[in-house]
Amino acid sequence: MTTIQHLFDNNKQWAEQTTKEDPNFFKNLSEQQSPKYLWIGCSDSRVPANELLGMQPGEVFVHRNIANQVIHTDLNCLSVIQYAVDVLKVQDIIVCGHYGCGGIGAALDNKSHGLIDNWLRHIEDVYRFHKEEMDVLTDEKERINLLCELNVIEQVANICNTTTLVNAWKNKQNTTVHGVVYNVHDGILKDLNVSTNRQ
Ligand code: CO
Repeated sequence: MTTIQHLFDNNKQWAEQTTKEDPNFFKNLSEQQSPKYLWIGCSDSRVPANELLGMQPGEVFVHRNIANQVIHTDLNCLSVIQYAVDVLKVQDIIVCGHYGCGGIGAALDNKSHGLIDNWLRHIEDVYRFHKEEMDVLTDEKERINLLCELNVIEQVANICNTTTLVNAWKNKQNTTVHGVVYNVHDGILKDLNVSTNRQ
């Protein structure tokens, strides 16, 4: 059996360092969270929401899954969106994909990956919706990167169609949904310019 003692050591050091920098940090955070942003990103370990936005704990409400998908019947993701919009009243929802996403690549490679293939079928649907545009490209990396962008745009549309967002906008709640893609090579976020607010 392995131990994770080094992680407990890291944690203790982090908590001490954080308290040293701001003695009220944990006291303030423990009283409430009021993040302005909901982040829906990929589970990929290279794309951590808070760090790449330069934000502290308490500032971003986060949901992550493979290939940052918002599936119409995924109660996990839908519950996160509902809580973020109805209770936390976040002002912005950010769907973040990343170039070179393994989930997107797996959806395109025509191989079998076990159970996860069912999850990836949704990305194959996105490919099918944009087959003409996709098939202009022959380079595999370029195809994956284009599908990373198209997938984000699709998920932005899916969020806009959730009952939560439809009702929030009907009630004049000012929530905007954004689509961005992260580049693991330089750490930069690209805005896909699909921001939507139907308030
Ligand atoms: Co990914």
